[in-house]
Amino acid sequence: MNVYDSERMAEVLEPLGYQQVDSPDGADMVILNTCHIREKATEKVFADLGRLKKIKQRRAHQGESMIIAVAGCVAQAESEEITRRAPYVDMVFGPQTYHRLPQMIAQATRASDPTDGPGQGVLDVEFSAEPKFDHLPARSQSTDISAFLTIQEGCDKFCHFCCVPYTRGAEYSRPVTDIENEAKQLIARGAKEITLLGQNVNAYHGLGVDGSDEWGLGKLMRRLASIEGLKRIRYTTSHPRDVDNELIAAHREIPQVMPYIHLPVQSGSDRILKAMNRKHTANDYLRIIDQFRTARPDIAFSSDFIVGYPGETDQDFADTMKLVEQVTFVQAYSFKYSRRPGTTAAALEDQIPEEIKLDRLTQLQTLLRQQQLDFNKSQIGSVQTVLLGKIGRQDEQLVGHSAYQQTVHVKAPQDLLGQMVDVSVTTVTMKSLTGTIV
Ligand code: 5AD
Ligand code: SF4
Repeated sequence: MNVYDSERMAEVLEPLGYQQVDSPDGADMVILNTCHIREKATEKVFADLGRLKKIKQRRAHQGESMIIAVAGCVAQAESEEITRRAPYVDMVFGPQTYHRLPQMIAQATRASDPTDGPGQGVLDVEFSAEPKFDHLPARSQSTDISAFLTIQEGCDKFCHFCCVPYTRGAEYSRPVTDIENEAKQLIARGAKEITLLGQNVNAYHGLGVDGSDEWGLGKLMRRLASIEGLKRIRYTTSHPRDVDNELIAAHREIPQVMPYIHLPVQSGSDRILKAMNRKHTANDYLRIIDQFRTARPDIAFSSDFIVGYPGETDQDFADTMKLVEQVTFVQAYSFKYSRRPGTTAAALEDQIPEEIKLDRLTQLQTLLRQQQLDFNKSQIGSVQTVLLGKIGRQDEQLVGHSAYQQTVHVKAPQDLLGQMVDVSVTTVTMKSLTGTIV
């Protein structure tokens, strides 16, 4: 979602004359769009700010100014800390306020001192009742064949480990018509695949096209599938609790909806799932997996896992490994539990020592990697439909994605960019497939 937000910020800034550049060195403004989900991501912000400060000072000596801004969830959660630790930062704003960037920049530059004075301290982290989407311009920057489109934001679920409800705010769904319009804009700019985004994307309940009732994700995708030129629809991230029959039916009936779901389970232990406030059991999850597989036998799953949640025992961890064996994932993200300030779990006493977390993570990742490699190997000799999205590093090479989100390398002329082709898979690694166009 930060990738999407950054694109939207660039679109807000375009009418002011800003253009994106590859390096901060000569930039008039640098925006760090930040993530607060785990401690590591947060610490990176302060390291990056230290480097930017030097560039700002160098430019000030040359009589030039540079605005430094911190955006995103670290800005939302740690605005005071940023202002204190990095007073040279000019603007701090959260994920729900970037439509106000023009006003913030005006404020920051009005009183700006081109010599290296302290920042002007523009702070905009208020959640407003008005959604930012109502104020964002049309899509004017994305040239991606596979594009992102945020349809839902925020979360009301308050899993005990997670900072999202505090940083992104309450759950909000955009109206269907807005989403449809944005999808059409992206397709007009060359998109063939759209990934619908939301922290709880399948909790989507936006205003329907007739303005009277609320539509779920399944119904929304049915509508989007009728847009000419849209070849593939994906969505992420889903919550097991919000899987409904309409969503399952969408996978069964809509060819554009890809047979691949990222469905985070976090743990295979009911005791830990309860402690996490996930409000589903391991069996609930397995039942949902079965329902999807019945509807669409070729469907594949990816997931998120947290190891070392406070109080996690060897038996709890063994339950997670068992669930992974039962489901078989084709891809997954796994993390050591990271204490996030202000969340319920951060205050728990039975925190797990780092070396145990690391040991469990290693075991889990070994199993998940094996499953991913096995899945890729099972495709050797098969023909997969691939959407060619990028130019590869080698001569006459294009890179695309299979229905299952696998990266696929093929030898192909550049004019096939943006096309769907059938590829016979010849060799695989855990990370990617290679094949020839048939
Ligand atoms: N520690 C570790 N992982 C976390 N996630 C969310 N919060 C934490 C945390 N405090 C993981 C979850 C979520 C993914 C986006 O990040 O697995 O699904
Ligand atoms: Fe965080 Fe997802 Fe839980 Fe919401 S549902 S609190 S975003 S992990």
